[in-house]
Amino acid sequence: MNKTITVFRGDGIGPEITDAVLDILTSANAPLDYEIFDVGAKVYEDTGEFIPQAGFKSFEKNKILLKSPITTPIGTGFKSLNVTLRQKYDLWANIRPAKSNPVLPCKFENIDLVTVRENTEDLYIGEEILIDEDTVHAIKRITRKASDRIIRKAFEFAKENNRKKVTCVHKANILKKSDGLFLHLFEEIAKEYPEIESNAMIVDATCMNLGMHPEKFDVMVMPNLYGDIVSDLTSGLIGGLGLLPSCNLGDEYAMYEAVHGSAPDIAGKNIANPTALLLSACMMLEDLDQKECAQKIRRALDTVFEKGEVLTPDLGGESTMSEFVKEVKKQL
Ligand code: NAI
Repeated sequence: MNKTITVFRGDGIGPEITDAVLDILTSANAPLDYEIFDVGAKVYEDTGEFIPQAGFKSFEKNKILLKSPITTPIGTGFKSLNVTLRQKYDLWANIRPAKSNPVLPCKFENIDLVTVRENTEDLYIGEEILIDEDTVHAIKRITRKASDRIIRKAFEFAKENNRKKVTCVHKANILKKSDGLFLHLFEEIAKEYPEIESNAMIVDATCMNLGMHPEKFDVMVMPNLYGDIVSDLTSGLIGGLGLLPSCNLGDEYAMYEAVHGSAPDIAGKNIANPTALLLSACMMLEDLDQKECAQKIRRALDTVFEKGEVLTPDLGGESTMSEFVKEVKKQL
């Protein structure tokens, strides 16, 4: 029987990459039915709601959401809808695997890293207090509960996926109490997993080492803000944002999305790379126990990359997104 999932089409390149991914999923005979919603700025202009109530209801019923990027105004305006969704549905574990494909242009070979990012607190609670007109305090919240569960998730992920090492990324030299708590918990929990190597690294040193020696890393676990930044860095190591998928997992709900944003600079031009959202859909299929279908799509993608004849401009090609989608479907 098909599983019904909720789909948000998003802003910018969101609608076009969503349609591309649904087209490929259909070609792959993914055993899915879709409840599809337009969300974001355009919908707000028309209806006064960024996410229609029916969209929330659908997600609450189906528990699985495939979500395209949504634009967030910078420095002003409403709170990020992405952050809102993660907090509202307690999607506390953000998993972002970065795996290089040897046939695609990137500086390093054999990169296989996973960022495990705490997804509900840290500076992303968005509590900014105007002290006076020249001073703003932003609250960074780190709790034992949220830190404990994300660190355990990183070790469990490592165990389940036969990974060898977990690195805690922090800034406890400066943020002694907040990141200090995260690091302390990491050191305690690591003792429960003696078979997995563990270490800790300050976030700035992590960035330098990722740029020079990415092979030193395997699974990395960190608070929210560092996870956002470090995972974008890992996308740069494997060939760009168009390739990095993610899932946001909670106890009850799961949301799958590309790591990149709505890319307004290329929206509507039919040149966006739908791979990140497609790989996110593969993660979803794997979690739904449809591993064969996910594998079929991954193999088709690999063949298209290997042939290298039909690639979008972000990967050095000259093809449109439609041509890329057609080629993936042909390989299926
Ligand atoms: P972005 O990720 O949208 O774009 C950064 C650069 O990467 C751009 O040059 C863009 O053209 C390129 N790029 C991104 N995805 C691509 C793809 N699939 N194919 C080819 N090129 C791609 O980041 P930016 O411009 O900082 O943010 C735009 C908007 O997206 C902002 O409003 C931001 O808040 C929002 N955003 C939303 C996210 C989400 O919905 N999960 C995540 C990150 C940003």
